[in-house]
Amino acid sequence: MPVPKAELHLHIEGTLEPELAFALAARNGVDLPYADTGALREAYRFQDLQSFLNLYYELMAVLRTERDFEDLADAYLARAAAQGVRHAEIFFDPQAHTARGVAMGTVVEGLWRALERWGSPRSSEAESGGEETHGVSTRLIMCFLRDESAESALATLDAAKPHLHRITGVGLDSAEVGHPPAKFREVYEAAAALGLRRVAHAGEEGPPEYVTEALDVLGVERVDHGLRCVEDPALVARLVRDRIPLTLCPLSNVRLRAVDTLADHPLPEMLDAGLLCTVNSDDPAYFGGYAGDTFDAVRDTLGLGPERLRELARNSFLAAFLDDDEERRSR
Ligand code: HPA
Ligand code: ZN
Repeated sequence: MPVPKAELHLHIEGTLEPELAFALAARNGVDLPYADTGALREAYRFQDLQSFLNLYYELMAVLRTERDFEDLADAYLARAAAQGVRHAEIFFDPQAHTARGVAMGTVVEGLWRALERWGSPRSSEAESGGEETHGVSTRLIMCFLRDESAESALATLDAAKPHLHRITGVGLDSAEVGHPPAKFREVYEAAAALGLRRVAHAGEEGPPEYVTEALDVLGVERVDHGLRCVEDPALVARLVRDRIPLTLCPLSNVRLRAVDTLADHPLPEMLDAGLLCTVNSDDPAYFGGYAGDTFDAVRDTLGLGPERLRELARNSFLAAFLDDDEERRSR
C-alpha cells in the first residue's frame, strides 16, 4: 500500500500524457507536429525551464472542450489515487487557454466535473475494475503566467469571478527569471481581498531574493519549489522559524537541470535544517513520475529512511489548504 499523502504542486496541464494528447488531437481535429507518441516522448529532453514550457504550451492546443479538461483531470486523479494521493491541490493556467479562445468557464467547469466525481470514495467493481480505490479531495489553484503582464493577470482574476466558489487560491508560474514576484503585487492584493489563498513559484530558477519577495510582497503562505533558498542561510532560518512550507519537486529539478542528478538534490539537508518540505510531481507526464514514483525515487536515491518518509507525508497534509471549506461556502 503506498503511503497516504497530499500532492500540493501539480499542474493539471502537465499531466497530459502523450497517449491522451493524441486521443484529444484526433477528437478535436488538431494536428500535432509529431508522428506518434514515441516521437513526442523523444522531445522530452529539456535544457531548462523554458525549453520545457515551449512544449508544455504547444501540447495544450489539444485541450478545447469541457470534456477534454474533465478527461485530463480524471486521468490524473486515477493515477494519483493509485499512488496513495488522498488530497490534491491542482494548479491550472487559465491564460494559456483563454489566449487560444477557450473560455475560463470551459476550463474550470470541465475540471470540476472530474474533481467532484473523485471527491467521494469509489469502490464499486464496475468503476475500479475490482480494485479498491479511495476518493481524492481536491482544491483548485489558479496560476497567473508571470511572463505575461500584470494587467493580464488582473483581467484573469476578473474573468474568474463567476467561478470563485470552485477556486481556493492563486499561484504564479511560467518563466521565472526576469519576472520577480513584485510585478504581481496588485493582483495578489485583489486576490487576498476576495478571500483566496496565495502561493507562488519562487526560487526554482530565480534567486533566493524572489522567495523573500513572494513572502513580503505577495503574502504567500507556501512557496512552490523554493529550492534556491539554500543559498541564503538567513532565508532558511526565516522559513524554518515561520514554518513556511516548500513544495519541492525533485524529479522536475533533475529534468529541468536545477540539479545535476537526483543524488545531488539537497532535500536531505533541507529536512535536516528543519525546513517544512513536501515532495510533489509538478508535471508528471513530462518529468517521469507521479507522487508515489517521486516518494519511491527520493527513498531509493537519497536514502531517506521511514522516519523521513513519514515526515514528508505528514508535512504534505500540514501544508495543505484543508481548513477552508467554511470560508469557501461563505464566498
Ligand atoms: N515552473 C514554472 N512554471 C511551470 C512549471 C514549473 O515547473 N510547470 C508548469 N508551469
Ligand atoms: Zn510548478
